[in-house]
Amino acid sequence: MAKIGIIGAMNSEVITYCENFGAEKTKIEGIYLANVSGHEVYICESGIGKVNAAISAQRLIDIFDVRYLINSGVAGCLTKELSTCDAVIAKELTYHDFTPLDILDRNSPFASRFKADEKLIDIAVKACDELIKNGETFKYIVGNVVSGDCFVNDGNKAKQLREDFGAFCTEMEGAAIAHVAVVNKIPFAVIRTASDFADENADISFEEVEKTAARRASYIVTKMLEGIEK
Ligand code: ADE
Repeated sequence: MAKIGIIGAMNSEVITYCENFGAEKTKIEGIYLANVSGHEVYICESGIGKVNAAISAQRLIDIFDVRYLINSGVAGCLTKELSTCDAVIAKELTYHDFTPLDILDRNSPFASRFKADEKLIDIAVKACDELIKNGETFKYIVGNVVSGDCFVNDGNKAKQLREDFGAFCTEMEGAAIAHVAVVNKIPFAVIRTASDFADENADISFEEVEKTAARRASYIVTKMLEGIEK
């Protein structure tokens, strides 16, 4: 049995877990517990943005002693290789709004890019392949993700994020969760699905696609739970 923390920023990003797992409230508001695939799974609705995400990650570690952190949710896609509801399995995460970024290399935590756990990446790839084999139709990429405290809805900015960070999607929590996981020496994964393309149509696309995309990310992570060592 492993203790696993799953963080989603918004209700749409955690509701599928809570409903499908029959999760129950814990003593901490916004954190729910369920037994799934032989694991103790803590599901946390963090709220949007890096600080909310970091608070949640640290709480899951300190109060519930989780040994894995998984961030699941939607993102602004930065590549036309993917369509909405396709997935990005994060390889490495960083911040696009921390400048100059190398302050983090020269001061605690002495890193500005956070690598996701290789084993969890493999488990995520296998989970996607299995879902696709079983009839779900989507594409996925293993690639970089960039986070910042802004909803990107500007095509030029999206292009710049793609070029400057080699990122395939942008969102608002992943790197902060990765940062906390690395400082606490806990393996982590970030699984994001495209709700929009971070361009001028992003707000409308997000409205229309958010729930479906969030559900897809939840299915991938649910499948991953079967592959995590007990
Ligand atoms: N989450 C979903 N879409 C996003 C976007 N365009 N920018 C930042 N976070 C997002």
